[in-house]
Amino acid sequence: MTKVGILGVGAYLPARKLTNLDLEKMVDTSDEWIRSRTGIVERRIASESESTSVLAIKAAQAALKDAKISVDKIDLIVVGTISPDSNFPSMACKVQRAIGAKKAAAFDVSAACSGYLYALTTAKQYIQTGLAKCALVIAAERITNFINWKDRNTCVLFGDGAGACVLGKVKSGGITADFIQAFGDHGDLMYVVPAETRRPLEVEKSGTYQLPYVVMQGKELFKIAVNSMADAVEAVLKKAKLKSSQIDCIVPHQANDRIISAVAYKLGIPKEKIFVNIDKYGNMSAASIAVALYEAVKSKRVKKGDNVVLVAFGAGLVSGANVIKW
Ligand code: ACO
Repeated sequence: MTKVGILGVGAYLPARKLTNLDLEKMVDTSDEWIRSRTGIVERRIASESESTSVLAIKAAQAALKDAKISVDKIDLIVVGTISPDSNFPSMACKVQRAIGAKKAAAFDVSAACSGYLYALTTAKQYIQTGLAKCALVIAAERITNFINWKDRNTCVLFGDGAGACVLGKVKSGGITADFIQAFGDHGDLMYVVPAETRRPLEVEKSGTYQLPYVVMQGKELFKIAVNSMADAVEAVLKKAKLKSSQIDCIVPHQANDRIISAVAYKLGIPKEKIFVNIDKYGNMSAASIAVALYEAVKSKRVKKGDNVVLVAFGAGLVSGANVIKW
């Protein structure tokens, strides 16, 4: 079987920071509450000109540079996102146009916070089956598109950003196991109330326009997140024929530092083996793991030969995990 691995990584974070202290002035919250309940200290907010595709393009260009791959080698672009600029064209097509990857097929994947792992797993299969040779996998979110800045239950949690990798054939190691799953029955625990689009004519007549906003049952999600992430890690390790003691680094979705600690505890893995950067960025949905992996690699928390596990959980509900021999 063809071995597929990550040839380079990149990320892009908007410059604007929104701190917990800034949020104290916007809603009834406190730096202490946010830090102790979530681990978040600040998050990035995209500027007016930084649409999701702009974030995606910048992360993709960084990954291409890191991989030292010329753009004409890219024959597949997959973007994990739940916050595209618009329904169409896809973010992947916008990236293709911007970077000039003329030979590439391009499409988006919608799997909320598991979007990067769903995209990675999908692109890997395309390379393994011979339909593609070299793929750009991107996770980009402008999640603040649908944040209600008056709702303290959700507005303190999220941020914008993008991460990417170049995926191609490798001689040894690479992505050695994949696991993806969905629990559609729990879809009502987190969803976006969309902008009024079902009756556009009536909305236009009335002159009112409902902005989209996110609704979340945090407590229920917390429990399911811990169980499904721990289950996903166990399932993927079984596929990779590895014991949890053989993992060098876990890069989990960054929704809440207490979720990450509970997953570590459940798996019996020391927290030091888990990469956490939620303090700087909050929950960036699909982009969280892509950016965390980029930072883990660049800070040498992930080194050549390491067994790395990526694990995600998100709205849908959807979960996923991959094992990578770095
Ligand atoms: N500041 C101050 N108080 C707050 C805030 C805030 N920002 N938000 C909520 N509170 C209050 C609540 O109103 C509640 O008050 P009450 O007791 O008077 O009713 C109290 O704090 C406790 O609320 P809880 O919901 O019990 O707080 P909890 O400890 O569960 O933390 C949190 C809430 C952070 C949302 C947590 O439940 C969580 O992280 N859940 C999981 C989120 C998640 O994983 N989402 C899915 C992935 S994201 C994706 O797929 C895109």
